[in-house]
Amino acid sequence: MKISRSDFLKYMGKGMIALTAVRNLDLFSEPVKIQVPKTKSSSSNRKEQNSFKIPGNNFKPVKPTTEDDLILPHGFHYDLIAVYGDRINPKGDTFGYAADFNCFFQFPNDPNRALLWTNHEYLNELEYYVTGYDYNAKGPNTRTPEQIEMYLYSLGGSVIGLRKKNGIWALDPNSEHGRRIHGRTEFELKGPVSGSEAISGKTKVFGTFANCSGGKTLWDTVLSCEENFEMVVQDCKLEDLREYGWIIEIDPFDPSSVPIKHSALGRFSHENAALTISSSGKLVVYMGDDSKDQCVYKFVSEQNYDPKKGKKNSELLDFGILYVGNFEKGVWVPLDLETNPALKNAKDKEGNPLFKTQADVLIRCREAAKTVGGTPMDRPEDLEVHPLDKSIYVSFTNNDSHGNFYGQIVRIKEENSDAESVRFEFEVFVAGGGKSGFSSPDNLAFDSSGNLWMVTDMTTKLLGKSIFKKFGNNGLFFIPTSGEDAGKAFQFASAPIGAELTGPWFTPDEEFLFVSVQHPGEDTKDYDLPTSRWPGIKKGDMPRPGVVAIRKEKI
Ligand code: FEO
Ligand code: CA
Ligand code: CA
Ligand code: CA
Repeated sequence: MKISRSDFLKYMGKGMIALTAVRNLDLFSEPVKIQVPKTKSSSSNRKEQNSFKIPGNNFKPVKPTTEDDLILPHGFHYDLIAVYGDRINPKGDTFGYAADFNCFFQFPNDPNRALLWTNHEYLNELEYYVTGYDYNAKGPNTRTPEQIEMYLYSLGGSVIGLRKKNGIWALDPNSEHGRRIHGRTEFELKGPVSGSEAISGKTKVFGTFANCSGGKTLWDTVLSCEENFEMVVQDCKLEDLREYGWIIEIDPFDPSSVPIKHSALGRFSHENAALTISSSGKLVVYMGDDSKDQCVYKFVSEQNYDPKKGKKNSELLDFGILYVGNFEKGVWVPLDLETNPALKNAKDKEGNPLFKTQADVLIRCREAAKTVGGTPMDRPEDLEVHPLDKSIYVSFTNNDSHGNFYGQIVRIKEENSDAESVRFEFEVFVAGGGKSGFSSPDNLAFDSSGNLWMVTDMTTKLLGKSIFKKFGNNGLFFIPTSGEDAGKAFQFASAPIGAELTGPWFTPDEEFLFVSVQHPGEDTKDYDLPTSRWPGIKKGDMPRPGVVAIRKEKI
């Protein structure tokens, strides 16, 4: 366990926050406006006072800082759950690197046992700490076969067992459910691409990596999204790019289950998957392609969701229509070869059909999306469905090619609030910048009251420089979506140096918020002197990405 609050005690002494934080800012930059939520009296509700449930009025925001720790408001602290290298099962499997998306599963019959899925995204600059290969030297790819295996093992995802002791969640290193899914794991390929000529007849594919964010299904499995896979394919000398860039599904409760890649959801740099049910009962999955000038998608299942079918509902993800968003017209355009003439009639330079089969469309999804008028956006990252009004919130992180450095969160309203609609409207909910106090929105999570929790992803090489200096380290923000504070961002946490916070996920009782600390020390140049040593379990340790559970201090 680690408690981190010294900065807040100092900070709390400064009264109404004022704008003391502007002192160190660039002369001509717009100061970050630190927002303070309106305080209501909460003394009447003892349960609310003691729980982490946040109606927006029970914390004083942190200020932008460059301190090398996970900084939280006074009254909150974090417990380390798992960090890179921790043993997660009796076999000796270990927790992977670059923790990202988290997804919590409570055991139905035991309130003190749970499972957590965590994504492991990428190595990059910090590869040295995992494989010993010096990425910063940027020489030729001289990784040994052993280094390639270490690389592939460190990515993918982990299922870890959790036990609650004295009211605190902790890793169970002996859990029989503890499992690694990684860069060599065998997958069943499902959907229209499976067995098709477009993927040389393959029905099985190997490995997952670049797992960024994801989503939880209604049948208690997890979806995990393969994002920037090209780099890993190159670094590890893998052969077939077509096996990556999909959404995978894992059943954390069945350690012997074969994980699935669902090809009907398309192949691109998948950020996350937000699931909901349409008015007529169809499963709808919202997805973003996180690259500059790429698109927003949704998938609508052919059949209806049936709770009685339990895990068999997974098949809903293999039959349906994938749509791409045209924001100019406010329509979802089907990426369906049979019914969309724009796809059927598209020709290559030689005059041959651009897409011969639906498998071609799904494998070359970006090309298909642009062919039918999908709107290039400013890096669509997380999408989440508002739990109360069903509108969809999308983070557009930034796009410096368009002069959009700070990004924005957009709200999409489907026609008739029906996820199956083919028409939608949208508006900017809040834009990054000095006034809102954040830059580069990334993962989103709603609490049950409809408040938005958002983490930022300012690129490490720009952190602390020029127009990003005023924001300090990356952070976690609380943004009400209704009431007088709607659209105002209140900073709840600040990440260690070089890190971003990823994968915010509340337990169902909302007493704990799981969040990953990804790539602390990413700006390190001298591996003996990392810029961060978070979490500093022992003196002189390397920086270790990992997962924490944030909770209120007991009163
Ligand atoms: Fe892996 Fe789009 O962040
Ligand atoms: Ca992300
Ligand atoms: Ca990101
Ligand atoms: Ca990231």
